[in-house]
Amino acid sequence: MSANVFPVPADVAARAHIDEQKYTEMYRRSVEDPDGFWGEHGKRLDWIKPYSRVKNTSYDFHNVSIKWFEDGTLNVSANCVDRHLETRGDQPAIIWEADDPNEHKVITYKELHHEVNKFANVLHGQGVKKGDRVTIYLPMIPEAAYAMLACARIGAIHSIVFGGFSPDSLAQRIDSCKSNCIITADEGLRGGRKVPLKANVDKAVEKAPVDCVIVVKRTGSEITMKDGRDVWYHDEADRVSDHCAPVEMNAEDPLFILYTSGSTGQPKGVVHTTGGYLVYASMTHKYVFDYHDGDVYWCTADVGWVTGHSYIVYGPLANGATTLMFEGVPTYPGPGRFWEVCDKHNVNIFYTAPTAIRALMGAGDEHVTKTSRKSLRLLGSVGEPINPEAWTWYHNVVGEGRCPIVDTWWQTETGGILITPLPGATPLKPGSATRPFFGVQPAIVDAEGNFLDGATEGNLVITDSWPGQMRTVYGDHERFVQTYFATYKGLYFTGDGCRRDGDGYYWITGRVDDVINVSGHRMGTAEVESALVAHPKVSEAAVVGYPHDIKGQGIYAYVTLMEGEEPTDSLKKELVTHVRSEIGPIASPDLIQFAPGLPKTRSGKIMRRILRKIAEDSFDSLGDTSTLADPAVVDDLIDNRQNRA
Ligand code: WT7
Repeated sequence: MSANVFPVPADVAARAHIDEQKYTEMYRRSVEDPDGFWGEHGKRLDWIKPYSRVKNTSYDFHNVSIKWFEDGTLNVSANCVDRHLETRGDQPAIIWEADDPNEHKVITYKELHHEVNKFANVLHGQGVKKGDRVTIYLPMIPEAAYAMLACARIGAIHSIVFGGFSPDSLAQRIDSCKSNCIITADEGLRGGRKVPLKANVDKAVEKAPVDCVIVVKRTGSEITMKDGRDVWYHDEADRVSDHCAPVEMNAEDPLFILYTSGSTGQPKGVVHTTGGYLVYASMTHKYVFDYHDGDVYWCTADVGWVTGHSYIVYGPLANGATTLMFEGVPTYPGPGRFWEVCDKHNVNIFYTAPTAIRALMGAGDEHVTKTSRKSLRLLGSVGEPINPEAWTWYHNVVGEGRCPIVDTWWQTETGGILITPLPGATPLKPGSATRPFFGVQPAIVDAEGNFLDGATEGNLVITDSWPGQMRTVYGDHERFVQTYFATYKGLYFTGDGCRRDGDGYYWITGRVDDVINVSGHRMGTAEVESALVAHPKVSEAAVVGYPHDIKGQGIYAYVTLMEGEEPTDSLKKELVTHVRSEIGPIASPDLIQFAPGLPKTRSGKIMRRILRKIAEDSFDSLGDTSTLADPAVVDDLIDNRQNRA
């Protein structure tokens, strides 16, 4: 092995739930006897009616169907809140750290119970019923967690839309799941800047009308409220009781929808259900982060992404953990903020994204070393491959060499972590997500779908189901089947490339489809393209990713203008603004190249392989261009490339 190997530190092994031997035994049982294994671990939740059936899943292309614990009933909010009242009512459930470093709030399990019940009754008061879809467009404030748990309490299905999405993207997501109620705030606050959430909602509902908008007061700025449709949360909460009985839900009733980008078309509504999802989120949270009672755990994600769902709210709270929720950004008021917050709240477990690590690494070690960080015991990484350089900095400077790093690979679709080290069991290699979690059976296939054995590289598939897996695309089961089970029939295709080394460790190499990963945020190149061509001066656009020092991947757009339009710098700016308003700031192109022509095959298909190479500034290896309709366009593209090394 060329990579450095970091053995499990003795003190970590000594206190860990799972050591190497236990991992091996449990993993073997989980794949040899999934019914027995998950039947046992499903008991980590409180069920109203216990399940008698555990796994009932089929990856058969003609009949994809995924059900876990299908005859059991339970309520997610009762599992995340009520069941902890007796043993840990006064323990902090949520520590909320505001954008402003002088503001924070501690919410105990008792208080969480009160707030969730109130919120559930407010939803009832607005006519929200079991099975209804509720759109949540909130900043990172405790009400986001209350709202999620309140939906779960009454059996409504939440669909959270990240606050960085534009009114158009929000409208599209409201419309797609036919949601009738939106929960938002007057404004968000990030890095000292205000985000006009309610104003965005006002624009979105012009296109996708709803019956009710519940507005949480965050900044107190002036906003417009429409009579008969918009209500202030605090007014409604004053009027309702703080008792709302949790509704009995079937294990396979939907818990939430979360939209995510794919290689084609509009974002897909990923559907997660109640029982299997919560078993999987809570179990991975406990073992991957080696969570022990009393630990303070902090995941820096936003609840607008799946990481926030599974590892800020549902997993930790189901485990009775103390979860820290952060409203701000890593660099405000300065690049030491993360570590100052760790010291302020004695954080033991810290989970963030490589893009944040790289940005802070660039800001200088002194912002880290001036803090103590002695409470930290474990570090985590998620969202994109972590380059060994960032891994090493995280390990040495942030963790002072004593904290293992869990590099967790998973997806919105997987509900929870699939490939990851367990801190007490897995020797680490920088840049590798290492080995599968219990019940997860990864495999590597070639382009034809042949299984590749031993040390190899190819496409990552999963050969059988695990309880946290998505069940369907909302309203479009056929799209679910086509997206994930059609490429390699009978296998779940992840869309990721992957290498396996001689020790059986997995190394994710990145997406192999037309999805790019920008700062850990997933973006379909097709979505950015359709935003660009919606501009009146654009005739054609092709978007690819290119390596970016901080973001992992940047967005590179090739744009062909309408006849007679001038390719100016001010038009480039206009196009960036246009994409931001169509999709949101996260989709802003980093580089735009005006291209008189795009490389196409004779049948008119854009050859993205060539565009990717040019965007990477590695055009000496363009491969065969003889099949192009007009090979000459390539020379112009190379001459005018925007990313010269
Ligand atoms: C894609 C999923 C899972 C929560 C956040 C992203 C990439 C994710 C890793 C990792 C290498 C990773 C993959 C995956 N990815 N974690 N540890 N190492 N790549 O969720 O938006 O659904 O994106 O993120 O490419 O397919 P997502």
